[in-house]
Amino acid sequence: VITVARDADLQRSNTLALPSRADRLVIARQVDEIREVVSLCGERGWRIEVLGEGSNVVLRDRLPGCVVRPDLRWVHAEEQGERVYVHAGAGVHWHELVRWCIGLGFFGLENLALIPGTVGAAPIQNIGAYGVEMESRFDHLLAVSTRDARLERLGRDACGFGYRDSVFKRDGEARFVIVEVTFLLSRTFRPVTDYPDVREELARLGGPLSAARVADAVIRVRRRKLPDPRHVPNAGSFFKNPTVTEARFRALSARLPGLQGFPVGDGRKISAARLIDACGWKGRRAGGVGVWWRQPLVLVNLGGARGQDVLAFAEAIADDVGDRFGVELEHEPRILGEDHAAG
Ligand code: FAD
Ligand code: EPU
Repeated sequence: VITVARDADLQRSNTLALPSRADRLVIARQVDEIREVVSLCGERGWRIEVLGEGSNVVLRDRLPGCVVRPDLRWVHAEEQGERVYVHAGAGVHWHELVRWCIGLGFFGLENLALIPGTVGAAPIQNIGAYGVEMESRFDHLLAVSTRDARLERLGRDACGFGYRDSVFKRDGEARFVIVEVTFLLSRTFRPVTDYPDVREELARLGGPLSAARVADAVIRVRRRKLPDPRHVPNAGSFFKNPTVTEARFRALSARLPGLQGFPVGDGRKISAARLIDACGWKGRRAGGVGVWWRQPLVLVNLGGARGQDVLAFAEAIADDVGDRFGVELEHEPRILGEDHAAG
């Protein structure tokens, strides 16, 4: 079944709760329906945007063309000895997949518990948390090309994964509608517990180490640090953690005692939260937008904000960090749509 709505209200379809409307919204439940919609959009010249659960987007007032939501919800596994290939439809809720895998003893996704959003969006920014990035558990995906509506299989190399990045994120317009992702998991549990927060939480929980326990620890840390979008609208980290040169890192360390720098290539990845915090932004607000009091990487909609208010506020923070520390902050969420003309 395919659902089509015109002038659809998207405010409840993005976790920042920004007011926005789509000229057309299509909720497709089968791959063939997505192919049909893509062909139709091609004929009519409608721009295609894809939306999952809207937990990593800043929506402007209006999304012209056609918004496609792939509501594809299957999960199945193929076991090959110690290896397990898990195929999941793009519309499956990410955390449901994590729980399903843990329940069946398919290991590898436990550190990624409770990340909001859908399976289909996971490759877009190569989701990551607490020492694991999706890339390391990824096998391949299936996607409908928006150029010719054909179904393509993309392996890891074709996806160009990076830190919160992939080829899909670099495209201006959606070139692919991802319909299924296949993960390569293991029947053997190999715990990843280097992240200090997770280690501390595991020690507090006690008991034998298991995948369920790691997921539990991650969930507890996340609940403590990040606001629940159902109560306080947000899109998770608003900025990526920047990588700076070794020389810049030394200069910053002199000003910010104890600054951690994770080696990446010939530079160092540092904490954007620390920089924003040091500029005094924690808890500050302007109109309907604010910096979360506990985690300054998270911007929250305190009520009534529009996409452009969030973007203006984010720019003020990035400008301040740039002026004081000479570090450029990059947005993590994708910005979709356009604003109504002023007046
Ligand atoms: P959406 O926000 O709907 O879309 C995001 C982008 O992906 C858009 O550009 C959209 O066009 C595109 N897209 C979505 N689905 C498809 C598809 N099927 N085919 C093609 N393109 C598609 N992220 C992390 O990496 N780590 C975290 O720890 C983390 N924590 C978060 C905590 C909170 C409280 C919140 C609100 C967000 C957090 N995020 C985190 C960000 C977010 O959860 C992820 O980016 C998630 O993958 C987004 O899924 P979604 O379905 O909501 O995607
Ligand atoms: N910090 C401060 N002040 C604060 C809070 C934090 O200075 O008030 C500094 C501290 O130095 C702390 C550091 O921030 O050690 C790191 O904090 P945290 O462990 O929460 O990590 P993060 O850099 O804020 C990143 C990801 C998260 C992911 C966590 C766990 C990015 C942009 N964000 O956050 O991902 O869940 O690590 O791995 O990489 C997301 O992408 O949306 C997201 C939430």
